[in-house]
Amino acid sequence: MAFKTLTAQEAASHIFNGAKIGFGGFTASGTPKVVSAALAEKAEAEHAQGNEFKVSLFTGASSGDMLDGALARAKAIDARTPYQSNKSSREGINKNEIQYFDMHLSHLAQNLRYGFYGKLDFAIVEACKVYDDGRIIPCMGVGIAPTVCDLAEKVIIELNHHTPEAIEGFHDIYQPADPPCRKEIPVYTPSDRVGVPYIQIDPSKIIGVVESNLPDGVAPFTPADEVTNKIGENVCNFLVSELKAGRIPSSFLPIQSGVGNIANAVLGSLGSNPDIPPFEMYTEVVQDSVVGLMKSGKCKFASGCSLTVSDAVMDEIIADVDFFRDKIVLRPQELSNNPEVVRRMGLITINTALEADIFGNINSTHVTGTKMMNGIGGSGDFTRNAYLSIFTCPSVAKGGKISAIVPMVSHLDHSEHSVSILITEQGVADLRGKSPRQRAEAIIENCAHPMYRPLLRKYLEMGAGHTPHTLSVAFAMHTAFNETGDMGNAQF
Ligand code: COA
Repeated sequence: MAFKTLTAQEAASHIFNGAKIGFGGFTASGTPKVVSAALAEKAEAEHAQGNEFKVSLFTGASSGDMLDGALARAKAIDARTPYQSNKSSREGINKNEIQYFDMHLSHLAQNLRYGFYGKLDFAIVEACKVYDDGRIIPCMGVGIAPTVCDLAEKVIIELNHHTPEAIEGFHDIYQPADPPCRKEIPVYTPSDRVGVPYIQIDPSKIIGVVESNLPDGVAPFTPADEVTNKIGENVCNFLVSELKAGRIPSSFLPIQSGVGNIANAVLGSLGSNPDIPPFEMYTEVVQDSVVGLMKSGKCKFASGCSLTVSDAVMDEIIADVDFFRDKIVLRPQELSNNPEVVRRMGLITINTALEADIFGNINSTHVTGTKMMNGIGGSGDFTRNAYLSIFTCPSVAKGGKISAIVPMVSHLDHSEHSVSILITEQGVADLRGKSPRQRAEAIIENCAHPMYRPLLRKYLEMGAGHTPHTLSVAFAMHTAFNETGDMGNAQF
């Protein structure tokens, strides 16, 4: 190899207090693992000697526990963006120990190039193959890797032998030019390729290569249950009725599906429904259920930013890598989530809400308006530009003490203007072409849990005006939950 081989500790020794670091990978997939863990140890040693040591992290999205978890527990994160979903990192964010800013994932790479967040000191990226001329083949998650490799002063590569070199050919690496020179991105169908299958790094910037042999460690999903199966069934029935009405072409449209247990279960339902034709996906994260759908022929092709599958499913892919190489393309998030491409292809987007209000506004990120859960991720990139934007969620959380349908969302991620359809296990509210009052009636009667309908109807009846809010009690359900542990105790 043309580059120096380093231990993780030697690589981490280059990183200084206050450094800004861009990481490759997306979710735990392709996220560097060993240098971040060594960096956390270094931070703890510095803190033990009374020295300050914190770094700022720019990642594709969530990462693995060896990055977000280890560094958060070591109190070594100053600022952090964009999406995260690690318990320790979430705790640090909600205690304000970490200055976290949430943003649309498609914006991050360009914002870094525009200089909005200052100079990047280091890029740390994972690869399954390193060429002597500085080209690398990323592992199964791309994220912002090409951009941070371009922008950073110095680059550290983790060569992870757990991912075989045979995945070469899965990637489509492309960065749009910056304004005023940007042209259209010529992706017209999910399987179109516009870039190259590698990331080119300037060899003079490469500090060295750290070898590792670790799986991504993606946890398996919670199995689908009665509620998630019913949500999936409702999504399928809705899409079939749209097909029959001719509002979705008979060849179907590409699907984007969000992250998490609910999204995984919904996709499983789409796969098993005989009335849904075989489909393609233009999505961000390719999850476990998609792999089964590819094997059965139901999913014909998936374009994504990462293949985030449990270790067992990853082993299946590796064992049959030639079959999957024709059916999956992995791209930078600037491309997988690109609003221009999403709008052009006419995606059916399916994302998950934490809560929705009766007028169709969505909160995907903040529990009772204050505590960050994960982040907006790519849900805004897709929702705002969809052909049909669907949000799903169970009608209640925490054993019924929380209604996911509330009078006013306690935090706004997606406005009523971007949301076409809301679906819970109770049913479907089609919000298209409806006034706020009509939307509220559809959401209360079709999506809210029956035990919360009387409270929500009362709220609607109290209000006046085009959007009938009563501001003095708009958060009475949230307040009742904070004070008594049950939204059902709300009084108005
Ligand atoms: N208030 C408080 N907590 C709530 C809640 C509400 N209204 N609704 C759900 N929750 C809790 C659940 O009880 C669960 O808690 P637990 O982890 O303690 O069991 C947790 O939130 C996750 O809910 P779950 O029902 O398992 O859903 P999920 O795994 O599908 O995740 C989101 C749902 C919204 C958190 C997740 O989809 C997300 O982060 N979305 C935003 C980003 C996004 O959409 N990305 C996709 C773009 S491509």
